[in-house]
Amino acid sequence: MLNIDPALATVHTVGAVTKISFVSGHVAGALTSHTDDITRWCASLAPTANVRTGAVTTDIAALLQSFGFAQARELVLMERDLEGFNTSIAIQDWAVSSWRCHFAARIDARTFPVGWDMTRSEITHALRATTDSGISFVTRGRQRIGYALVGASMDHAYLQRIAVLPTAQGLGFGALLAESCLQWAMERGAAKMFVNTESDNQPALSLYQRFGFEQCGERLFVMEKAATNQ
Ligand SMILES: CC(C)(COP(=O)(O)OP(=O)(O)OC[C@H]1O[C@@H](n2cnc3c(N)ncnc32)[C@H](O)[C@@H]1OP(=O)(O)O)[C@@H](O)C(=O)NCCC(=O)NCCS
Repeated sequence: MLNIDPALATVHTVGAVTKISFVSGHVAGALTSHTDDITRWCASLAPTANVRTGAVTTDIAALLQSFGFAQARELVLMERDLEGFNTSIAIQDWAVSSWRCHFAARIDARTFPVGWDMTRSEITHALRATTDSGISFVTRGRQRIGYALVGASMDHAYLQRIAVLPTAQGLGFGALLAESCLQWAMERGAAKMFVNTESDNQPALSLYQRFGFEQCGERLFVMEKAATNQ
């Protein structure tokens, strides 16, 4: 329906929203060489469902805006230098499997607002976006009540997602997951870890700040275009 080159983006339809994830769209400069492809795609786009992008940089957001996309969310990019980081309390199990993606998606669906959660296929796609990746869980009793998604390519690591079920928030599980993500990145030899989150998500901003992440000054945007028949 969207007629987009799979080398440029992946498409996931969730309810009334079609979500597109540009390849490394949130990495500054990564999409610059694809500006013509995006322009061509936008020019031919007549969506029959609402279309939402993943995080994109300011230049790509401006391009999309000129084709009728509007800003849906503003995100801040944060980074943390890993030199000297070490902890002994980190979770060690970062195995990736289809079942673990399924469990992660179930937690996500109960933690984020409808339409803003990551489906199993989006989680699978996120795990494939980097050369190395992992999922870990925190449990209460036998129940998985939170998870984290990480990735790394060369010496850059990415904290892709942390989610703790609303009924288990404020009890230290997010901190354990964040610390474990840093340790995972450290053990893979990454020099820096990056994370992005909504500019008004105070719990997440505080969590990342507590673990030494600092805002890089770069803003990212989630862009949306309404269906043309609305
Ligand atoms: C962000 C989130 C993962 C934190 O998990 P949590 O288990 O509640 O966090 P913890 O209890 O371990 O608290 C760790 C730190 O997070 C911050 N924090 C947690 N809840 C907070 C709140 N309501 N307000 C402000 N800061 C908060 C604090 O810095 C806290 O450290 P402190 O206890 O020393 O003050 C959780 O709120 C969540 O899943 N939110 C929804 C999903 C989300 O937004 N994920 C992040 C974006 S990808």
